[in-house]
Parts: sequence; structure tokens; C-alpha cells
Amino acid sequence: MLCSRSVADFGERPYAFQDPIIQTFALICRLSQKGKILQRLQLLFRFLKFYLLAKTRYNVHSPFVFNFTEAVLEDDRWYYAFSEVEGLRRFLRSDKTKITVTDFGAGSQVTPGRERSLGNLVRYSANSPLGCQYLFKIVDQYKPATMLELGTSLAISTAYQAAGSLNARFITIEGCPNVAMYARKNLDILKVKNVELVLGQFDERLPEALRSLGSLDYVFVDGNHRNEPTLRYFEQCLAHAHEGSVFIFDDIHWSEGMEQAWATIKAHPKVKITIDLFFFGVVFFRKENQVQEHYRLVPWLWKPWRIGFLDLFAK
Ligand SMILES: C[S@@+](CC[C@H](N)C(=O)[O-])C[C@H]1O[C@@H](n2cnc3c(N)ncnc32)[C@H](O)[C@@H]1O
Repeated sequence: MLCSRSVADFGERPYAFQDPIIQTFALICRLSQKGKILQRLQLLFRFLKFYLLAKTRYNVHSPFVFNFTEAVLEDDRWYYAFSEVEGLRRFLRSDKTKITVTDFGAGSQVTPGRERSLGNLVRYSANSPLGCQYLFKIVDQYKPATMLELGTSLAISTAYQAAGSLNARFITIEGCPNVAMYARKNLDILKVKNVELVLGQFDERLPEALRSLGSLDYVFVDGNHRNEPTLRYFEQCLAHAHEGSVFIFDDIHWSEGMEQAWATIKAHPKVKITIDLFFFGVVFFRKENQVQEHYRLVPWLWKPWRIGFLDLFAK
């Protein structure tokens, strides 16, 4: 079992994760690898817009959202689980084993073919280390007892989330049998015990997974990145949500369709707080919030000039 909650010796922490400027640069490089030239430019333009409008901990007045920034964006502890999963990711990146991939979703904008190496899959399908660490910290912060993931791929994000809440019941759904087979192997290698990997298409498997979980504390939607299916999964999950649930949608700025889906989710009357982290959109349903609040957030080091004069001395 991943020993998730223990904070690793600081020396184990790779340099790249200590420097938010490098993180930002790596993120932009990763995003700019996605898609054709026009799509890349659109994505970079959306990132620029997001960045210009984004706030940091110094501009957040809601205590709930401030706690989120502290726990997720500003917590720079490095956990043992991170090293273990990143070790596996590094190993997979150079794995040339070819598998036939059946894609039921929006497909990859990078490698449209059906034959892909494991190295290619982990490079282009798995969430970045930074993204996965945010997922871990969100799970660690809100301690969901029931968790669902749509889109396992090679189980990189799955392992991170599983490590964040070891006692949770966690179902992850993957449509491609070959990919699911390697995902199972990876979960075994990492000794992850608290995950049920369900093979099948979301449309077929989601209702039964939701019935089995009953009340849904947490969901991460990371597959079939299109407007209509994303909204369908949102509505289905919403029927099992409660005011403490956390929903996360991946790649909300990936395409025009995903932008529209994110706008529709934000406007839903049951949604009370949304946090746009660019690569993820996080949704809360807290009844305490009378009016909806929507945030775009980045770690304060991404916009260091936003720090107040007094805050500088308080540090
Ligand atoms: C972006 S990858 C998931 C990456 C993974 N969450 C990670 O970060 O490591 C999306 C996965 O969802 C699966 N998928 C997409 N649409 C699906 C559908 N309609 N039914 C089942 N699986 C689907 C794909 O096969 C793919 O493996």
C-alpha cells in the first residue's frame, strides 16, 4: 500500500517541483504539445486569459476558498506517495510496449492512431505531476469516503487519489481493455488496495457504479472530453451528490466544447463555488453559500507582485 500521508524527507523532492516558475513553464509546454497549431494557439490564448484574470491567496476573502488555496496550492510538502508514483511514471515513459487502444472518448489530439506505446500513453494521457499532486491534496483535504474516477488510463491519477484517502471506497472506470489491463498491473506494482477498476464504457458502467457507491463524496471526470457527455456525467453524478461533495472536471479549457460544458456547470443552480485551476475545474455545493462564487486561482508565487506590503513583513 502506498504510504501516502507521510511527508518525505525534503531531499527526495525533485528540483522541478520546488520552483513554481519551472512548473508554469512545464505546464505551458505540456499544453502546447496538445493539438494542432490552431488548437495550440487557442489553448495558449486561453491560458494567457486565465493567468491574467487569476487570483492568489492574497485576493481571496472566502475562508473556505482561502483554506483550499492553503491546502492545495500553497502546501509544498512532498509525500512518499508522490515519489512512488513518479518513479513508476518515469519507468513507463521509456516503455516501448505497443498496445491497441480503443478510444470511446474525444480521442487524443496528439496520437490519433490505435496503436500506442505505453510511454506515449503515459506522456500524453496521464495528468502532469503537478495536476496529480493537486488531486492528492484535494482528496487529503476533504477526506471523501466514496470516490469515483471516469477515465483511469494507466492509473497514474488513480494511484495519487487512492493515496489521499486510504479508507475510501474508490471506483475508477476505464473503457479500453488493454489499457485497463496495464492499469491493474500498475496498481499492483504500487500495492494500491483500495481501488475497484471497472472495465466498460462510462454510459454503461456509470449508473451501476453510482448505485453501488450510494452517496457520492468525490468524482474526477477525466475522459470523453466533450460538451454533451461531460454534462450528462455531471447530471448523473449530481443525483448522488450532497452539500459536501467535490466534483473535479479535467481539461475544462481543452476545447470550445469543454469551455461550454464548464460554463454550463458553473451556472447550475446547485453549484455554489467553482475554482478554475486551468487544467481542472473544481465544484462545491455548500448550502452555506447563498450566491454563487467563481474563482480562478494560481499559487501566489505565480503572481508574486500581488502580495500585499504588510504580508511581505508577516512572512
Ligand atoms: C485522459 S485519460 C485518463 C488519464 C488518467 N486519469 C490519468 O491522469 O492518469 C482518459 C481515459 O478515459 C477513457 N475513456 C474515454 N472515454 C471513455 C468512455 N466513454 N468510456 C470509458 N472509458 C473512456 C480512455 O480510454 C482513456 O484511457
